[in-house]
Amino acid sequence: MTEPATLQRLNKLNGEALVGGGKERADKQHKEGKLTARERIDTLLDPGTFVEVDRLVTHRCTDFGMEKSKFLGDGVVTGYGKVDGRTVFLFSQDFTVLGGSLGESFAKKICKVMEAGMKAGAPVIGINDSGGARIQEGVTSLAGYSDIFFRNVMASGVVPQITAIMGPCAGGAVYSPALTDFILMSGASYMFITGPEVVKASTHEDVTKDQLGGPMTHNATSGVAHFSSGDDVATLKLIRELLSFFPSNNMCDPPIKETGDDPRRTDPSLRLVVPENPNQSYDIKDIIRPVVDQGYFLEVHEHFAKNMVVGFARLAGRPIGIIANQPNFYAGCIDINASVKASRFIRFCDCFNIPILTLVDVPGYLPGTNQEYGGIIRNGAKLIYAYCEATVPKLTIITRKAYGGAYCAMSSKHFRGDANLAYPTAEIAVMGPDGAVNIVFRKELEKAENKAEAKKKLTDDYREKFANPYQAASLGYIDEVIDPAETRPRLIQALDMIKDKRDTNPPKKHGNIPL
Ligand code: HXC
Repeated sequence: MTEPATLQRLNKLNGEALVGGGKERADKQHKEGKLTARERIDTLLDPGTFVEVDRLVTHRCTDFGMEKSKFLGDGVVTGYGKVDGRTVFLFSQDFTVLGGSLGESFAKKICKVMEAGMKAGAPVIGINDSGGARIQEGVTSLAGYSDIFFRNVMASGVVPQITAIMGPCAGGAVYSPALTDFILMSGASYMFITGPEVVKASTHEDVTKDQLGGPMTHNATSGVAHFSSGDDVATLKLIRELLSFFPSNNMCDPPIKETGDDPRRTDPSLRLVVPENPNQSYDIKDIIRPVVDQGYFLEVHEHFAKNMVVGFARLAGRPIGIIANQPNFYAGCIDINASVKASRFIRFCDCFNIPILTLVDVPGYLPGTNQEYGGIIRNGAKLIYAYCEATVPKLTIITRKAYGGAYCAMSSKHFRGDANLAYPTAEIAVMGPDGAVNIVFRKELEKAENKAEAKKKLTDDYREKFANPYQAASLGYIDEVIDPAETRPRLIQALDMIKDKRDTNPPKKHGNIPL
């Protein structure tokens, strides 16, 4: 039986839309190690679940001969589908069509799926591979970006937003990704406000595209990106992994996953991780991994501000966000970058009902003119703000040092901590013994005949009195001093106790976090 003419017409249009910018350009994309826009969608979603919308949309531009290059879909593939059986909305920019450049219709398509994601309460995922604002369309391109930015902001805290940068992302186009919750950068990607030529013209600095805005620049130096995720396939798999920790929207709890790890499992090796010598460093991940389900910790922002470790894990199947000082790096001191990194992560967890576990081993905020000039006061305040406003379950363990303002900041009892535990090795004090003795006993030390001996005695006395968890425990600031071997079952008990927590902040339009 021959197809009715109406169906033939539809099939022809669909066929035309599916080829995007054509085979030659798709081959070029492959040669550069990149997948096409549609291949990316197929790799990301559960097989056979993609539903495309607006496949037949075209641009309306007639300037610069543009009426001759009307492509069905206009260079961006949009729609919805499933990841692990849960709905997500997405757009995938097609570099083979007019360089993936964004004009009026292209932007409208993106806005439509963003709005649909918000309405349906489902995450929105953006795959970026674009030459930026479509030059031929003028201000309508800029209007399109503005419309997207506005929706990014409206969706923030309502549904998770994830961006994968998989090609160029330049100029003001970078601000949509920057407004989303997580940015992944594949090997072939770069992001910058101004390219190497503009930099050279204005600063005479010779810099490559990669140095200026490649994946490691933004993962390790600027902190713009959260993952340097390898090739396209690895990047798309990582998006699926990330989503497995998130609820679909701010009204749901994150999905529980059966991990098969015994909630009562103890681990005596944890007694040996914190060194006896308080000045010796260790890797905080040696505490995180043995405690969480199957030792699986998905670290976020791994290459940036390594003195603060953040990431996702599960306890008895429940997703948690972990924030931990890293004694292996700057002795775990909190600097500007560490504070900003942790604050943003805390606020993401709080938006999406993900309980927070904080591991504390911090000698204080990082001293020095660099930090003061950079605004450690206002930036360090972000961490305090983020912990104070968070209403999700908050569990804290002080493994060793909790000195000064950093004690307060790192999810202390005083910020509505739900379970504040300490190891017997915890040292909770206004400052470390050395500094404290030098200040408090300056006169005695000046007068002492044997200064070294006097210093040692005073330091030992101070350590005995303050460099332990017991004064804090006697005041109820620490709920319990625990055997490190029992960390996992204790945390799981606490999380189970508080899992249905409902807490609120006073009604207000919004607070004024020290940005
Ligand atoms: C229209 C564009 C385009 C753009 C690329 N193309 N960018 N068309 N508007 N912004 C077209 C090219 O003309 C070319 O068409 C095709 O896409 C592929 O581009 P190539 O240059 O051949 O590819 P490649 O060599 O890989 O270089 C990629 C690129 C380069 C580095 C991205 O195309 C480039 O520099 N583009 C301009 C980038 C830019 O300055 N964008 C504006 C940023 S400002 P043909 O038909 O010849 O193959 C911005 C403002 C946003 O975005 C503001 C928001 C508030």
